[in-house]
Amino acid sequence: MGAINYTRGDAWALLIEYTQSTSLLKHALAVEACMGAHGEQQASVLGLSADQQTSLSETYRITGLLHDFDYEKYPSAEQHPFVGNKILAQQGWPEEIREAIMGHAQYSGVARTSHLAKALFACDELAGFLTAVALVKPTKSIFDVNVASVRKKMKDKGFARGVQREDIVAGAHELGLELDVHIDFCIAAMRSHAHALGLHGSAALPPSDVTPISRSTG
Ligand SMILES: [Fe+2]
Ligand SMILES: [Fe+2]
Repeated sequence: MGAINYTRGDAWALLIEYTQSTSLLKHALAVEACMGAHGEQQASVLGLSADQQTSLSETYRITGLLHDFDYEKYPSAEQHPFVGNKILAQQGWPEEIREAIMGHAQYSGVARTSHLAKALFACDELAGFLTAVALVKPTKSIFDVNVASVRKKMKDKGFARGVQREDIVAGAHELGLELDVHIDFCIAAMRSHAHALGLHGSAALPPSDVTPISRSTG
């Protein structure tokens, strides 16, 4: 790898260096989409200039992209995200990004103090869940997902069992958002990246195009 400028492009290069799984890459992209939107919103809350706004939003996006970059190679709770954090530190990635990434793992012992860290925790499980809800729609489209359908699926214990509902609820709470507002916000963010996420309504495409995270029906 050449010189790192800690851009979104550098983050993507690092992510694909460590990750082959299509579903994990799509998870990273989905969390990135939600994080970018939260970063933009936070920038406007803080009244930042256009340049600062772009830069803050990029920090949020990078954090989303990289939060699970070590997961495929180092999936155990002893390793993820600790190994990834070491690699990021060695490469000189900003502390605020590393701290937020450590904070998304409840067991890391790193508290979520920044808005960045709280946003990552709030978006991580939710982005996975929204993807799962989209993939059981006949259209496999995020445009067919809404707050009501997400809330309904959250109550369905058999659906996307790997997703911790209480983390979704706690994440929105930590961020100071009503759950429905946060869900709606993340649906909108994922819709604006629907093509990259393969959630634009790909039912007509060959099944090899998409690796579903979770499907309860054929
Ligand atoms: Fe993770
Ligand atoms: Fe994740």
